[in-house]
Amino acid sequence: MRKKFYIVGNLKMFIPSHEEAEQYLSVFRREVRGHRFESVEMIICPPVLYAEAFRHANLREVKLGAQDVFWEKEGAYTGGISAGMLRDIGVEYVIVGHSERRLYGGDTDEIIKAKTDAVLKQYLSPILCIGETAEERAVDGTLPVLRRQVETVFAGLSKMQAEKIIIAYEPRWAIGTDRVPSTSDILQVKVFLRKVFTKLYDEGVAERITIIYGGSVKSATIPAVSWEAELDGVLVGRESLFPYELVKMATIAEERTLPDGA
Ligand code: PGA
Repeated sequence: MRKKFYIVGNLKMFIPSHEEAEQYLSVFRREVRGHRFESVEMIICPPVLYAEAFRHANLREVKLGAQDVFWEKEGAYTGGISAGMLRDIGVEYVIVGHSERRLYGGDTDEIIKAKTDAVLKQYLSPILCIGETAEERAVDGTLPVLRRQVETVFAGLSKMQAEKIIIAYEPRWAIGTDRVPSTSDILQVKVFLRKVFTKLYDEGVAERITIIYGGSVKSATIPAVSWEAELDGVLVGRESLFPYELVKMATIAEERTLPDGA
């Protein structure tokens, strides 16, 4: 059976009010009407304050995600939101290690490991962002950086836990810049990660782990950054603010997965 194709919308800290969240939802509902996605899993990660509104909207085509999490279960952690709390409001996926959290929130590989473990403990799926900076890329540091990020987070995880994680390869220089790596660069990363996972686990696990691409994704470029590079989906930032674009991406991906002649 073919793997699902993931389209993750990261709404970041946009959508500044409840009213706009409701507007987004009603536009989404209108755009998605009449579409049925069998092979595409669409996940939207709104600011957590609007998670309930998204859940109550009951959009059949969409799963609910969160953009971040605190690693402890409960306690005196002002401002923290635990994985259990996220699960309680209907969240199924949690982004961990996004480069903006690494940059502005001080997330280190060790913190990201703790967050990933916390998410897995609640039986939710982490969407683990990894990626190199422009400086690291300039000195051929991409693959060593990815290896370090992956090995820190996957240390001690069982095969079953490992397979629950969606890896989002997001080169930091490609986020919000309209620059994207070539298909062959992405493919090289995919082949490399498969080797890393074969070493950590085995070929079967390496084959089954879902890897998606993120950074300046648009509907026009979706084939080149995902299935042409043998990846299983995309993580979309700015363009996910337009429900029309998300639905268009899902439609393109859905058509691509239809068997010949169907
Ligand atoms: P972008 O963001 O699509 O706006 O480049 C991607 C991301 O931050 O995940």
